[in-house]
Amino acid sequence: MKKAAPVFDAQFEEQFLQLLRWRRDVRHFETRPVAEADMQAMLGCAALAPSVGHSQPWRFVRLRRPALRQRLVAHVERENVRAAARYAGDSRGQLYRSLKLHGLREAPELIAVYCDEQPEAGHGLGIATMPEMLRYSCVMAIHNLWLSARLRGIGLGWVSILDPQEVQALLDVPTHWSLIALLCIGYPSDQSETPELELRGWQAREPLTDRVLER
Ligand SMILES: Cc1cc2nc3c(=O)[nH]c(=O)nc-3n(C[C@H](O)[C@H](O)[C@H](O)COP(=O)(O)O)c2cc1C
Repeated sequence: MKKAAPVFDAQFEEQFLQLLRWRRDVRHFETRPVAEADMQAMLGCAALAPSVGHSQPWRFVRLRRPALRQRLVAHVERENVRAAARYAGDSRGQLYRSLKLHGLREAPELIAVYCDEQPEAGHGLGIATMPEMLRYSCVMAIHNLWLSARLRGIGLGWVSILDPQEVQALLDVPTHWSLIALLCIGYPSDQSETPELELRGWQAREPLTDRVLER
């Protein structure tokens, strides 16, 4: 029998808005573990994301080995020093160096999200002219994961200060997979309705009206 589609009421809408407002990129984590049932539920939510041709190209690599974590931390720290050098002579240099831009050391769970650029599923539908749609599909999955984490009081931080080729070599994944994100997951040590980069004076939220055009 066909299931009746749910109707979302105003109370749900308000809660959903709160979820969106209180989703944060988290870099400060407690080290206490996340229950495996929560991890499975969050990955399940990620897999409900839309994907081009229903190709489901996301691949989640859960990082278990402490030695691997150490090598990733060292790599990201090196890349961050290089990134900071881009602000040399800039008034933002000092502020940049004071920012905490990853929680790779403390977060109990690390996941590298990859995109399979040649998935069997989907049979190529929708990617003839824009193959990057596969990667966009993975980003959709990450956002589902992000929201479902927040729903459980769990934080997620996206780390992109890295060289994907070096990480590829460290993780030993197929060459036709491309790195989309390195994610830190765990309980946040602090919560805020305001993005940390806004609190630290790096970048304010800009008016939406400046970002909507009409033609
Ligand atoms: C594609 C992507 C890559 C990001 N990479 C990093 C990163 O390497 N380090 C970091 O501290 N934050 C990273 N962030 C988080 C952003 O800084 C954050 O989303 C933004 O400051 C707004 O804050 P909020 O997510 O708490 O709303 C990334 C976010 C996205 C969407």
